[in-house]
Amino acid sequence: MNPADVASWISDAQSAFTAATDLEQLKSARLAHAGDKSPIALASRALGTLSADQKASVGKIIGEAKAEIAKALAQQTAKLEQERDSRVLLEEIVDITLPVRRAHRGGLHPISIIKNEISDFFIEQGFSVEEGPELESGWLNFDALNIPADHPARTMQDTFFIEPIESGLVLRTHTSPVQIRTMLAQEPPIYVICPGRTFRADELDATHSPVFHQVEGLVVDKGITMAHLKGTLDNFARHMFGPDVTTRLRPSFFPFTEPSAEVDIFFNNRWIEWGGCGMVNPKVLATCGIDTDVYTGFAFGMGLERTLMVRHGITDMHDIVEGDLRFTRQFGVGL
Ligand code: PHE
Repeated sequence: MNPADVASWISDAQSAFTAATDLEQLKSARLAHAGDKSPIALASRALGTLSADQKASVGKIIGEAKAEIAKALAQQTAKLEQERDSRVLLEEIVDITLPVRRAHRGGLHPISIIKNEISDFFIEQGFSVEEGPELESGWLNFDALNIPADHPARTMQDTFFIEPIESGLVLRTHTSPVQIRTMLAQEPPIYVICPGRTFRADELDATHSPVFHQVEGLVVDKGITMAHLKGTLDNFARHMFGPDVTTRLRPSFFPFTEPSAEVDIFFNNRWIEWGGCGMVNPKVLATCGIDTDVYTGFAFGMGLERTLMVRHGITDMHDIVEGDLRFTRQFGVGL
């Protein structure tokens, strides 16, 4: 073992490490000068063949040399890592002052927002949400609901009939046919709401639209009374219009409910008609095969456009149907 050799291993390693300009090059230099096959590692391994006193003195020299080489490697590693980190920081810099493309996010229409709001409210109370087709059979839209053939709602002025007329199809004039579909498909107890699009042959004006939306509520169970209807509407009204709103039932007539009522709300210091309601007419229950000795039910239905207009003080239906973003954005994106 020549100490001069050891000194040259150290200086070779030091200059190879300092010559490395990146971590990849430093890795090759490390393998050559400090790896398993490097002169220092071979010499270290050969220590075992020496006599005990040689081992002590040569071992000291080799140990010190190893420490020198490790120190040089650590210094260069630290230097190159630091260089890499500052380079990456620069390369990945984001210029937050660059102008971005101002693409608008899509959003829900206020009618969809209010529909979701109503659905969530009733789902929380154990109701499920049912939907029926917009193109409906006249039997489900009228006859099963006890609306006779000569009822004014069935005239050409109100209803969009689908050609050929013999098809018996109409664009549903209300969401009440979904009551029938539900009662035909499910056994009581039934707790459903049915939101959806409805159609009537009206001109579009400040308060009417030929395409509008309703939400129907239907409960059929043992011992259901008008008190349950009133309580449900009270809660619903408070949820939609705030805790101070009052409701009032006014006698009315619908062929599918008996007794029937209009539900009004006292909101912003005046009574406003909100929707129709009543106890499901036993004739309708019987049509759907429900035992009227065991079950009673209530139903209600109101317009979503009307609900939205009353709540937000919207005075022109055009705003709701035209889809002008300046109007819809006021309701938030709802996504
Ligand atoms: N379907 C009725 C309408 O469109 C509203 C209603 C629903 C009335 C349920 C009573 C019960 O006017």
